[in-house]
Amino acid sequence: MSAAIQKNYFLLRRLHSLSGIIPVGAFFLLHMFLNSRAAQSPQQYQWVPDFLDQIPYLWALEIGGIFIPILFHAILGVVIATKAEHNVTRPKHGWAENWGYTFQRITGVLLFIMIMVHLWQTWWVHTRIKLGNAQNGTHTEFEIYSLMNGLLKDSWVMTTLYALFVLIAAWHFGNGIYNFACKWGFSTSRESQRFALTLGLGIGAIGVLLGFASIWGLTLAPWAAAAQ
Ligand code: HEM
Ligand code: HEM
Repeated sequence: MSAAIQKNYFLLRRLHSLSGIIPVGAFFLLHMFLNSRAAQSPQQYQWVPDFLDQIPYLWALEIGGIFIPILFHAILGVVIATKAEHNVTRPKHGWAENWGYTFQRITGVLLFIMIMVHLWQTWWVHTRIKLGNAQNGTHTEFEIYSLMNGLLKDSWVMTTLYALFVLIAAWHFGNGIYNFACKWGFSTSRESQRFALTLGLGIGAIGVLLGFASIWGLTLAPWAAAAQ
C-alpha cells in the first residue's frame, strides 16, 4: 500500500462506509422502486427511461452520483475483501457476526461482477441508442420493457441470476446498514445493535419485494407472455 493511501486509510474507510449508504444504497432502493413499475404495465415501465431522459445533465448526475461512488465503493471494497481476516475459519469463532463479516465480503465481490455484466446488458444498450440518436439525428426510443422481457422471459437461468442479484444486493445493503450503525457509533448497546440489524434487514426486504415485483412483471405477468 502506498504511503499516501496508508496515511489516509482511516478517512478512506469512513468514506467507503458512507458511500455504501449514500449514494449507493439509496440508489439501489430507488432503482428497485422504479423497476417495480414493470409490475404495473409495459407503458408504466416505459415512463421510467422517458422521465429520466428529460432530466437536464442526466449524464453528469449518472457519472457523479452513481458511477464514481459505486466505482469507489467497489474498488476499495475489493481491496478490503482481499485483506480480510476471516474469524469463521478459526475454531469457536463461528458467531453470526463473524459470518456476517465474511458474507459482506463475498457478496461485495459477487456484486462487483454482477453489476459489470448488468451494465453491459442494460445501461450500455440505452447509451448506444442515445449516442446513435445524437450522431444521426434520429429519435429511436429505448424500449425498456422489450429489452428486459427479452432478457428474462425465456431464460430461467437469467431470471434466477437476476433474482439472486436482487437478493445479494439487498442482503449486502441490509447487513451493511447494521455495520454502518455500529461503526459510526449510532448503535453501542446490545439492544440498539439488534434494532439496527432488524432495521437494515427490513429495508433490504423492501428492496427484495420491489425487485421481485419487477421480475414478476417481466416474466410471469399476463402482459409478459404477450410481449414479443
Ligand atoms: C429486478 C432487477 C433489476 C432490473 C430489472 C434492472 C434494470 C435495469 C435497467 C433497465 C437499467 C438501464 C437503465 C437505463 O439506462 O435507462 C439498469 C441500470 C442500472 N442498474 Fe439495474 N436492474 C436490476 C437490478 C439492479 C441491482 C440489484 C443493481 C445493484 C445495485 C443494479 C444497478 C444498476 C446500475 C448501477 C445501473 C446504471 C445506472 C442507471 O442508468 O440507472 N440494478 N438496470
Ligand atoms: C460493487 C461491488 C461492491 C463491493 C466490492 C462491495 C464491498 C464491500 C465491502 C468489502 C464492505 C465491508 C467494508 C468494511 O467492513 O469496512 C462493504 C460494506 C458496505 N456496502 Fe458494499 N460493496 C459493493 C456494492 C455495494 C452495493 C451495491 C451496496 C448497496 C446496495 C453496498 C452497500 C454497502 C454498505 C451499506 C456497507 C456497510 C458500510 C460499513 O461497513 O460501514 N455495497 N461493501
